[in-house]
Amino acid sequence: METKTTSDAVDISDEELKSLTDAIHQRHGIDFSCYEPKSLKRRVIRALHIFQLRAVHELWIKILKDHSFIYPFMDEISVGLTSMFRDPILWKKLSKLLATELAVKERLAIWHAGCSTGEEVYTMGIVLNEVFYARPVEAVASDISNQAMAIAQMGEYNELKIEEYAKNYQQFNASNSLSKYYKVKDGNVQFEARLIRHVRFEHHNLITGPFVRKFDIIFCRNVMIYFDNEAKKKLFNKFYDSLNPGGLFIIGFYDAVLPLIDPNKFKVLDMDAKIFVKI
Ligand SMILES: C[S@@+](CC[C@H](N)C(=O)[O-])C[C@H]1O[C@@H](n2cnc3c(N)ncnc32)[C@H](O)[C@@H]1O
Repeated sequence: METKTTSDAVDISDEELKSLTDAIHQRHGIDFSCYEPKSLKRRVIRALHIFQLRAVHELWIKILKDHSFIYPFMDEISVGLTSMFRDPILWKKLSKLLATELAVKERLAIWHAGCSTGEEVYTMGIVLNEVFYARPVEAVASDISNQAMAIAQMGEYNELKIEEYAKNYQQFNASNSLSKYYKVKDGNVQFEARLIRHVRFEHHNLITGPFVRKFDIIFCRNVMIYFDNEAKKKLFNKFYDSLNPGGLFIIGFYDAVLPLIDPNKFKVLDMDAKIFVKI
């Protein structure tokens, strides 16, 4: 069983992937059986490059020898590409809902499931600020990656990313500038802490973790791409149980999950914005 290496590409066989995930499961109790094998393979290959390892067996040895290596490894495996005001059409629609149907709520409970480095959380903070949302808001932001959440809590992003974030923001609100919400310092930008003062960050694994609270809005965008269909279906049922009646379930633009969503549980509120409502 050999990892095939060409000049710039590494390939991993199904057997190699299985022996790696079995070893991690045995040693660290992390279960990858719900992860979609193709995307897991891509992520392991990416981790090989990042840790400058030439083959899966080198990774395997490193994981066995160095107990703490599992943390940076898992951070790479679950690494989350994200962006502020990603999918501007969603934030436009959501700001309309916040100014109308959601404005009459006594309090609003939000869950950012798979929040990554926090761009979605700051985006929601800015949207709430711009619609002058007057009701009390409480939010939970969770992720499997502690490293990503540490960045989210700091709200400090590389200045190079801001150009893209600002462009997205312009599509959301052309009459204002994203720079209103951050200060530049040493090649980074620091977003205002007040934007996320309603947010509590919690480490949570969507596959194995408990679902105990109720929310009015659940964001789970671009996370389920890693899971197989069985895991996705289970997750939808858990999200359904975690929503208050009429609660909103918001998925990512590339989460091709429509056929898996039970039409007796969720109806489409806005297909373009990928917003569903609990029936
Ligand atoms: C692509 S990011 C999405 C970030 C954000 N929701 C967005 O759409 O911009 C995916 C995030 O899902 C997280 N993730 C992956 N598997 C997870 C799991 N089992 N439980 C919780 N979070 C997970 C990753 O750590 C990563 O931060």
